[in-house]
Amino acid sequence: MGFAILNGEIIERVNAFVDVEDRGYQFGDGVYEVIRVYNGRMFTAKEHLRRFVRSAESICITIPYPTEQLMSLLEKLIQKNSLQQGIIYLQISRGITPRNHAFPVGDVAPTLVAYTKEVDRPVEKLKSGVKTILVEDIRWLRCDIKSLNLLANVLAKQKAAEANCFEAIQYRGRDITEGSSSNIFIVKDSVVITHPSTNLILKGITKDEILRLCTANAIAVVERTFTLEELMQADEAFLSSTTGEVMPIIEIDKKIVKDGVPGPVTRRLQAFFEEEIKSKCGNL
Ligand SMILES: Cc1ncc(COP(=O)(O)O)c(C=O)c1O
Repeated sequence: MGFAILNGEIIERVNAFVDVEDRGYQFGDGVYEVIRVYNGRMFTAKEHLRRFVRSAESICITIPYPTEQLMSLLEKLIQKNSLQQGIIYLQISRGITPRNHAFPVGDVAPTLVAYTKEVDRPVEKLKSGVKTILVEDIRWLRCDIKSLNLLANVLAKQKAAEANCFEAIQYRGRDITEGSSSNIFIVKDSVVITHPSTNLILKGITKDEILRLCTANAIAVVERTFTLEELMQADEAFLSSTTGEVMPIIEIDKKIVKDGVPGPVTRRLQAFFEEEIKSKCGNL
């Protein structure tokens, strides 16, 4: 895509360079967001930017612009790139300094970068559901921060890719935490269950939308930890993420979930979620 944001300026993407001593590049010392764009409009942008600010604050980085200014900059970027269906990738790092683990002393400006990418909705997968594998969650204890450090997530997703699967579902001890780039829900006896938003998972924007949609539509829902055994015996299971929306799981480690097709509660939540997109961003 033609244009990118670098430190508050919209410039040609080919000119958007970052120094080799940027701390994001050397230490993963920064945080990021991915915001969905439908019909040229950002979906749940306020929630994403709130999380961006919160993630940055939790590692002592201050976003150098007010949220409203960042929002209008992102809107301009969408227009410049004529983006209809896609995503905005946004990241901030602690800036450029001679390499040293401790924070730089003095005034070092953070580096803020954003660019867009065309991404279609995964319509076929949303209909048919996806296959997954199980992997041990080997991440740190601040998974609530949307950190640039994604090595464990990368390794987990690679295992899924090698197994021809869409996602790797992570477990810590006997408890299921989340996917490598998604949250996970199960349905048992018509109750929707998902891991509470603690330090062990990312508090997904899509997860929160789904919780809200459950409550608004009288679908029983509870945030509590659930085990590997509960996952394997669930009536339904699905993932949630900005790009994957409400994604049915039909297989886990080669074992078929219930009947091997997306279940009724998952289907209802998909329909409610689509309505939500349409009401905010127009017809799909
Ligand atoms: C580890 C992890 N969990 C959950 C999610 C889902 O979050 P969201 O719904 O905000 O995209 C993501 C998204 O990338 C993620 O990386």
